Amino acid sequence: MSEPITVSESVRLEREGDISLVVVANPPVNALSWHVRQGLFDGITRATNDGAKAIVVICDGRTFIAGADISEFGGGAPHAVGLQEVQTAMEDASVPVIAAIHGTALGGGLEVALCAHYRVAVTSAKFGLPEVNLGLLPGAGGTQRLPRLVGVPKALEMMTTGRHISSVEALDGGLIDDVVDGDPAALRDAAIAFANRAVTEDLPLLRVRDRDEKVAQARGDDQLFVDFRRGIARKTRGFLAPEYNIQCIEAAANLPFDAGLKVEGKLFMELMTGPQSAAQRYAFFAERAANKIPGIAKDTSLIDVRKVGVLGAGTMGGGIAMNFVNVGIPVTIVERDAAALDMGLSVVRKNYERSRSTTAEQVEQRMALITGSIDKSDFADCDMVIEAVFEDMALKQSIFRELDEICKPGALLASNTSALDVNEIAAVTSRPESVIGMHFFSPANVMKLLENVRGAKSSDSVVATTMAIGKKIGKVSVMVGVCPGFVGNRMLFMRGAEAERMILEGATPAQVDNVLYEFGFPMGPFSMSDLAGLDIGWKEQASSSSTIREVLCENGRRGQKNGRGYYTYDSDTRAATPDPEVEQLIKDFAVGQGIEQRDVTDQEVLERLLYPMVNEGAKILEEKIAIRGSDIDVVWVNGYGWPVYRGGPMHWADSIGLAEIVGKIEGYSASLGGGHWELSPLLQSLAGSGGQLQTYSG
Ligand code: 3HC
Ligand code: NAI
Repeated sequence: MSEPITVSESVRLEREGDISLVVVANPPVNALSWHVRQGLFDGITRATNDGAKAIVVICDGRTFIAGADISEFGGGAPHAVGLQEVQTAMEDASVPVIAAIHGTALGGGLEVALCAHYRVAVTSAKFGLPEVNLGLLPGAGGTQRLPRLVGVPKALEMMTTGRHISSVEALDGGLIDDVVDGDPAALRDAAIAFANRAVTEDLPLLRVRDRDEKVAQARGDDQLFVDFRRGIARKTRGFLAPEYNIQCIEAAANLPFDAGLKVEGKLFMELMTGPQSAAQRYAFFAERAANKIPGIAKDTSLIDVRKVGVLGAGTMGGGIAMNFVNVGIPVTIVERDAAALDMGLSVVRKNYERSRSTTAEQVEQRMALITGSIDKSDFADCDMVIEAVFEDMALKQSIFRELDEICKPGALLASNTSALDVNEIAAVTSRPESVIGMHFFSPANVMKLLENVRGAKSSDSVVATTMAIGKKIGKVSVMVGVCPGFVGNRMLFMRGAEAERMILEGATPAQVDNVLYEFGFPMGPFSMSDLAGLDIGWKEQASSSSTIREVLCENGRRGQKNGRGYYTYDSDTRAATPDPEVEQLIKDFAVGQGIEQRDVTDQEVLERLLYPMVNEGAKILEEKIAIRGSDIDVVWVNGYGWPVYRGGPMHWADSIGLAEIVGKIEGYSASLGGGHWELSPLLQSLAGSGGQLQTYSG
């Protein structure tokens, strides 16, 4: 190999005989920053001018180009050459261009690879156009080129989900031309060998844009698109980007390449400048920011978690255990008796058997990683134990006393409590530094959020380990401080209190639920209560008609489980219908409370549900319970169904305007009273200074 030539700050040119290699080195993910684009363009041009007989585009580090540099979006005109000029230089090169792929070729990265004449990849490589998850569509020709290689049905699926596909699937689908066995180090040699073969065998300079066979199969087939739209309607409700992606693929099927590109360009710009993509891009960076904990150094030593203990195999314990065995970490589950243990383990097995992504063999492998026991001393060799017994402080404290006796020194002791004081739990042990909250959400094997709760004495290593293990098991982790309900439930409580109040004033449960559904939540508080069961925590003997919920339980309304709750449920379809009996019970209750009912507008419902949450979020920031405003948004998007295209409550509040919200809160506080309408001084001061909640960090 001759001496490498620096082409730009992140691209260099190397030479191996007749083959030039354009090498991208822009850590961490080789995003297409302006200097990468410039370097690729200059590298291709220079390699051709220098007489290379073929060109390999390859990347240093952990991955091929993982997409456009998202941090450049919304920052005005791009510096240097545009991506399209790079792509034209590759596609129109007079010698074969081969993309050599390892890691992930995503978004603009895959779109670059689609402009090579050939693509080779290592077995472990992944490919995808995930722009939809940023509220976008592939804006560098991907919408027109991908369907030309893999066909319309697969392109529709890939682009509306953003799913990453494997090398094997990519080879089968026609996306790549060769798979290289071995690790990424073998890729360079294999790509050079492919390039030499392209020269000696005079392989044609295949341009994806010229291919027609696969898109022709869907030309004029309107039904294909109608059916596809219907199939994804429920999942994509409220989102603009999936529909725009589909329109681009329709254009790919029905229009010449350049006309399709124009459709793509127009729709891309519309999404890029709109509020949904701004919110989704914000959410992308917010999730990553949440991993950074001030004062915890990157190289903080982590507890090596090779074996996990879970106490309690109920609703939460079983799901928590599944997270660990899914990534190959063995789990010991301890229950209080054999019957409860059998029941818990059988639910875990059923969950696996029901899952379409787990084969029968995998079910057995995963179950084999779980050891059931009714003896807590089996936790002795666990590196970490997560307690998930009933929500009762005295019980949790007695259990932590026992764990303190049993567990080895240095083991991490976590509680899955959803509201109790982690410090009080830690205080009964001789090692409060090892204790922390790990608040999983139900169903724990499905829900993305992990709200980690740092106790006053939790050590840096324990804090860092909970975040790292969260990432390992595929969760989105947020570190919060101790207070009743932590971040998520504390804010949810405010919303719930106002929802209860409004139905007494004259709004109906269906109206309240519908306002939240239209906003983008999967369901409102009353549907949610019916789903969970109205009788959770309700005791017939102690019931005194003091809340609507008690009144409903007293009238035999237990929620979805018996077909009657705030709504009445169809026994076959489970469809919910508002019930005049419930409305009458609410009216009677309101009369008993001396509340005069009136019409409540949808706008008032929305403001009274969400503004107290914004206010509470600001108080949470004031008290330093959350590290930064964006962490609160990560909690709400990943744990409570806040629509990601509205960013989260802090981002949303900023988009409405904090001064407007403060004015409304002051108005409601005056007319309604109640502690949760007391204005947060932080919110007031940010509104006055033109500051933002989403960027606030105390
Ligand atoms: N632009 C800018 N920064 C990016 C980036 C991107 N496309 N992708 C990742 N990063 C940054 C992250 O913010 C993070 O920075 P930090 O360390 O300062 O927090 C760092 O790179 C590492 O990212 P992750 O923590 O996510 O690393 P992982 O190894 O877990 O995941 C990944 C790697 C799978 C590449 C993941 O980062 C990812 O999915 N990235 C986004 C991919 C994407 O959406 N590409 C499409 C972009 S839009 C586009 O290409 C438009 C085009 O059509 C014109
Ligand atoms: P659950 O009632 O379904 O399960 C609790 C399990 O703990 C039962 O199987 C019980 O037999 C077992 N148990 C009780 N005492 C025990 C003991 N001394 N030794 C061994 N096992 C014992 O309760 P769930 O819903 O799983 O909740 C557990 C914890 O998780 C609670 O702290 C709860 O607040 C929290 N949580 C619950 C969520 C939910 O949606 N259910 C969400 C997030 C947290």
